[in-house]
Amino acid sequence: MAQIGVYGLGTMGSALALNMAEQGIEVAVANRSPEAVPAFLDEAGDLAARISGHDTLEALIAALPTPRVLLAMIPSTGPMDDLLNSVIPQLAPGDTVIDAGNADFHDTRARAARLKEHDLHFVGLGVSGGEDGARHGPSMMMGGSDHSWDQLRPLLTKIAAQYEGDPCVDHLGTDGAGHFVKTVHNGIEYADMELIAEAYGLLREGVGGTPHEIGALFDQWNDGPFASYLVEITAQLLTTDDPETGQPMVDVIRDSAGQKGTGRWTVIEAVKLGQSATIIEAAVAARAWSSEADLRAKAEDALGGARERVEIGDADLEAALLAARFLTHAQGFRILSAASEDYGWSLDMARIAEIWRAGCIIRSAMLDDLAEAFRAGPPMGQLLPSPAFETVLDRGIPALRRVTAQAILAGHPVPAFAAALGFFDTMRQARGTAAIIQGQRDIFGRHGFERLDAEGSHHGPWAG
Ligand code: 6PG
Repeated sequence: MAQIGVYGLGTMGSALALNMAEQGIEVAVANRSPEAVPAFLDEAGDLAARISGHDTLEALIAALPTPRVLLAMIPSTGPMDDLLNSVIPQLAPGDTVIDAGNADFHDTRARAARLKEHDLHFVGLGVSGGEDGARHGPSMMMGGSDHSWDQLRPLLTKIAAQYEGDPCVDHLGTDGAGHFVKTVHNGIEYADMELIAEAYGLLREGVGGTPHEIGALFDQWNDGPFASYLVEITAQLLTTDDPETGQPMVDVIRDSAGQKGTGRWTVIEAVKLGQSATIIEAAVAARAWSSEADLRAKAEDALGGARERVEIGDADLEAALLAARFLTHAQGFRILSAASEDYGWSLDMARIAEIWRAGCIIRSAMLDDLAEAFRAGPPMGQLLPSPAFETVLDRGIPALRRVTAQAILAGHPVPAFAAALGFFDTMRQARGTAAIIQGQRDIFGRHGFERLDAEGSHHGPWAG
């Protein structure tokens, strides 16, 4: 009998179902349009022996033993609520429904509360790694009850990516914890992608490299400390030519990047938590500006788009990127800490870093070091002052200054590099400039300020 039901046979749902079948799990599947089911079973080949196809949601639910596990891979917006409306009356206490899409964790929390009223369980499962990850081993971030984790653990540990034998999946907290961690994962993904794109821009427009030369450099970096999946695929992108025109692929792709929303959510939630995610925000902004191609063309005519040559050594750029990647993760994990406290999730930062070491889009050589740094207990639980990254910063920050300064002087846009440096320079000052802000607020609004030498709120002797 099937151990799990998968509803939604789009790219990701199909890949997950095939992964499960390959790992020896008996799976039942169904889809909103039932025609997709026989086509999927055909595609499954030998694996179809462990997959039962069903025409309707009702038949899928009936095929599952209780307590049931039903994984939905459908849009996490209205369709997920529609699904819940129809399954709630058909399920029994102890059953678990999983949303494996990229959901807004607020929705996940509300849905978990709703199902709890019926003694049902709702899991928000962050799944990273794209189609290939889903098919051959994703990284998965689970939020939900202990009961659901008991049901899911034997299944998810089998289909997860493995990092030196450690499955990249864990129960991170209740209700929306998994979807929140996935959202921040995506925020880091946006920032890492933007930093890589800015480095490409400098190498192409500032240094004068060809796409193939730059791709070869990324390929070389992928053997060192800056190694990561995103660096690897960027090298692949830059060294591929368009079969139709013979031009490098990067030159035939429009420079307007879309976004489905998770990067933006990271920034919004960070700000709501009294935090900031300036490097991620820079990446979100860069994508938004990129979509204004007509305006940029007009502005180039009116204002001039000239960028001067820069002299940036490959090693300097690599060190700068590594420091910026570290600072991006430091920001991401600060958001996770703040959310963990606010929502009572007790997130284990080291474990999150561990389950990101394989399978997910932001997997990189640095993640194992981040996990180790968290295990060692960094000062105030924060990565920024962690001694483990002294070398990265000692070498990387001067490089980041040289790269960012040259880029800015020569007119190259580097919003993410500049944000990384701004974050670092602000956080390494015991005394900054907020006394000015406090004084200004008191002068114009009698908001009061704190003094260094006395408790309580004070007002200044302002004239006028
Ligand atoms: C992953 C990815 C994935 C996401 C895409 C597209 O971890 O596998 O984060 O979940 O959907 O990266 O996201 P954008 O369209 O927002 O760039």
